[in-house]
Amino acid sequence: MSLWKGKVLQVEIYGKSHDKKIGAILKKFPEEFVDESELQKFVNRRKPTYSPIFTARREEDKIIFLSGISDGKLTEKAVFEIENKDCNKSDYNNLYAKPRPSHADLAAYYKDGRLDFSGGGEFSGRMTAPLCIAGGIAKQFILRRGITVNAYLSSVGEIKGQSYKTDSIADIDFDFPNPKQQKMLDKILEAVNSGDSIGGCVECIVCGMKKGIGGELFDGLEGKIASLIYSIPAVKGVEFGYGFGLSKMLGSEANDQITINGGEITTVTNHSGGINGGISNGMPITLSVSFRPTPSISKPQQTVDLVSGEKVTISINGRHDGCIAPRGAVAVESAVAIALLDEIYYFELNTAK
Ligand SMILES: Cc1cc2nc3c(=O)[nH]c(=O)nc-3n(C[C@H](O)[C@H](O)[C@H](O)COP(=O)(O)O)c2cc1C
Repeated sequence: MSLWKGKVLQVEIYGKSHDKKIGAILKKFPEEFVDESELQKFVNRRKPTYSPIFTARREEDKIIFLSGISDGKLTEKAVFEIENKDCNKSDYNNLYAKPRPSHADLAAYYKDGRLDFSGGGEFSGRMTAPLCIAGGIAKQFILRRGITVNAYLSSVGEIKGQSYKTDSIADIDFDFPNPKQQKMLDKILEAVNSGDSIGGCVECIVCGMKKGIGGELFDGLEGKIASLIYSIPAVKGVEFGYGFGLSKMLGSEANDQITINGGEITTVTNHSGGINGGISNGMPITLSVSFRPTPSISKPQQTVDLVSGEKVTISINGRHDGCIAPRGAVAVESAVAIALLDEIYYFELNTAK
């Protein structure tokens, strides 16, 4: 069980990759209408498509609305479940006590002594399915407040696709897959065909964000969003706006000049990614998220048998994604939407009096 507590909202995620069920418990969300079919469509976007670049595990991911929805509206506490029907424990027979390099196996062994790493347990990417239930609901609620959150695959290895750093936001195609991504998808297939995996980046753009939300130091929006993004397995970096690129610029190049258009104060550029001093400045919030290459690969890798203490070579032949970033994009949208809904709802509750 993993619990996230925001300023108002709480999200609890339970279960493991090979349990019968996994789920999400949502507490203290706004008691508003949930479009169940839109929610299912959103969660379906996370599913692997029938492509060799994704895991061959086929889960229906049908959301079971267990409790907490009354007359279509969310109540104080709501519980949602998804069944795991396509588990294949035998894929992991040769991996007993042999931690997969760069997966959570070795670290989890240090924490609780486990030797059975099948399915990745609670560290599996599968756990982003319940995260996407919470995120899909948060997305609906912030959309009602005029805010959109869209994430897309922006690079795979050295191959770059569309980016808010180089393209106008209006031109970015958020569909997956789309023809502009073909070179990136070919690169993933190349890695898979050689028994390997590859890393990738996802970018996310928030439009319509209310100005002046967030706070200083520990209350900053960047930290809030980043902490939720880092709950997504395989995320190893987050930058806002031009992020690390800003460290290579002069102040005169980096600063977003302030102007006024038709009475509305805005900035000429958006290198800061819509946030200054931890507070939204009215420009689109932009962020880029780095996903490591999938740890499980069929190429031989070195590890240690934790029972015998011997060095051993393993080859991981189960069902795995060749690149996590494409499916990770839906989890990124979810994490961002939950963080923003918490901030906005908190603001509403505290200014309503
Ligand atoms: C959508 C998604 C799918 C994933 N699929 C796999 C997979 O097929 N095989 C694998 O080894 N890791 C996969 N992962 C990544 C591991 O869960 C992750 O690398 C591991 O828990 C270690 O965490 P860390 O990389 O954040 O340190 C996936 C992650 C996500 C978000």
